[in-house]
Amino acid sequence: MKKLLGIGLASGLLGLGLLTAAQAANPKPEDVVKYRQSVYTMIGWNFAPIGAMMKGEAPFDAAAVARHADYVKMLSTAAPEGFAKGTGPDVVKNTEAKPEIWTKSGEFDTKMKNFQQEAASLAEVARGGDEKAIKAQFGKTAETCKACHKEFRKD
Ligand code: HEC
Repeated sequence: MKKLLGIGLASGLLGLGLLTAAQAANPKPEDVVKYRQSVYTMIGWNFAPIGAMMKGEAPFDAAAVARHADYVKMLSTAAPEGFAKGTGPDVVKNTEAKPEIWTKSGEFDTKMKNFQQEAASLAEVARGGDEKAIKAQFGKTAETCKACHKEFRKD
């Protein structure tokens, strides 16, 4: 009896494991959208306090800038997998992504790469702690956000 229970439990766990693997390999479009919106929410969360410091709305804190910039850099590399095919507004209602992301994917990829490059530079410059240099690089990075939103996100 004990043995049987053990086998039942083991196969139950195995089944669960397989299910989880299958879901991870083939996520639902709604979950992909949730993922990319979460990534951008976190990008915005980390970008905003740097912006506030650059505008003089908050006191400059080099360590905080460096930490937030590191997160933005890391999240910029996590963003692309949130744009799997079949997750546009024709399939999922709750999204601000425009269909052009998939019909002009070359242009979208370029905008994503520009963002990743500027975010990586921002993280590097932030480590140096020079407020003026950070301000300049923050401006460049913010431009890459705007450039993509203008073309590929509904207002
Ligand atoms: C390569 C394109 C691209 C770049 C670069 C980009 N975004 Fe976005 N962003 C999008 C798209 C597309 C959406 C809409 C996602 C959706 O609704 O499915 C979005 C959504 C957002 C959202 C809303 C998230 C939510 O649903 O609550 C925020 C905040 C945001 N972006 C901030 C930023 C910031 C800040 C930057 C730059 C530091 C940035 N984005 C760079 C394409 C981009």
